Amino acid sequence: MTLHVPFLDVRSSFLEIRSELNDAYKKVMHSGQYIHGEEVESFEEKFAAYCGVKYCVGVGNGLEALILILEAFGIGSGDEVIVPANTYIATWLAVSNIGAKVIPVEPEFSTYNIDPERIEDIISPATRAILPVHLYGQPVDMDAILTIAKVHDLVVIEDAAQAHGAVYKEMKAGSIGDAAGWSFYPSKNLGAFGDGGAVTTNDERLAKKVRVLRNYGSEGKYVNEIKGINSRLDPLQAAFLKVKISYLDEWNRRRSVLAEKYRASFLDLRELVLPCVLDWVSPCWHLFVVRTQKRDQLQNYLNKLLHQTFHLYHDQKILSLFFLDLIPTSTILNPCFCASWFLQLGVYNHDKQYRS
Ligand SMILES: Cc1ncc(COP(=O)(O)O)c(C=O)c1O
Repeated sequence: MTLHVPFLDVRSSFLEIRSELNDAYKKVMHSGQYIHGEEVESFEEKFAAYCGVKYCVGVGNGLEALILILEAFGIGSGDEVIVPANTYIATWLAVSNIGAKVIPVEPEFSTYNIDPERIEDIISPATRAILPVHLYGQPVDMDAILTIAKVHDLVVIEDAAQAHGAVYKEMKAGSIGDAAGWSFYPSKNLGAFGDGGAVTTNDERLAKKVRVLRNYGSEGKYVNEIKGINSRLDPLQAAFLKVKISYLDEWNRRRSVLAEKYRASFLDLRELVLPCVLDWVSPCWHLFVVRTQKRDQLQNYLNKLLHQTFHLYHDQKILSLFFLDLIPTSTILNPCFCASWFLQLGVYNHDKQYRS
């Protein structure tokens, strides 16, 4: 059987639940509340409950969620932040944007997530935080990271932009570290119909600080006390997300059905490395990523079957422009090594054929 999977058709999630989304749209438009307000607050409560944390603060996007967390922890110029070498560029830019130094760590070659065993060697007196990314929706080995952080008195900030609904040892991704940054970019497992982001945490002080920082440094209106920015979650997007969050577990389940189908279909292909799923995690399959030295041949073959695929982040020019000193030492960034071996297959699934 041929499985036709468009890589991404974000409109299809709208089509599946359009009447509820249209109602949400009308409610916001008639409310006259287009900044902050009830829709944002009730989404924040809902998302905090979903993640199993006390606080959620809606912000403009995932990059700013990370920037605001770093700032709220007082991290900045002269500090170092440990990040995965293998991630989307936003993780690194959050750190460099606040003036801190990016310290990349190579991935484990089973999960492609940051390798905890390589972290301790590069901790210096300037290290303030570890910023693990649950890449492709695969939870990071958080126990290992938390142990290191405790020994060295470091803050742990989860980049959960790709991990809505992923579970690590019965805890939701984004509820395990000191705080987490989320993106609701439309293609995410929980995606808005525009930009959006959030910070989750159990730390009341941090939540309060992020709330002030996202609103020009002001807790109420025109009470500007610290130097903040404008990074607010739009009420319309909050209303849409509130509808979509009820479907998140079901849509993630569909993703895992597709992931299983891929696994079964590719099992005999010896030259293809399939995603590894450790016993104690439940990924949310933001992406299904395979690795092969014959990547381009595989991509051509799949594309002929109308199965769209994409290369991964490692071709990002900005890395070679701004982080040049780091590239020769990195197997993941160096194009001569693994960068050209990765291919992502579609797991987006709102067509009728995926609904059960
Ligand atoms: C791992 C990771 N971190 C951060 C971000 C930034 O999110 P946003 O695009 O909402 O700023 C993304 C977005 O794709 C991401 O994949």
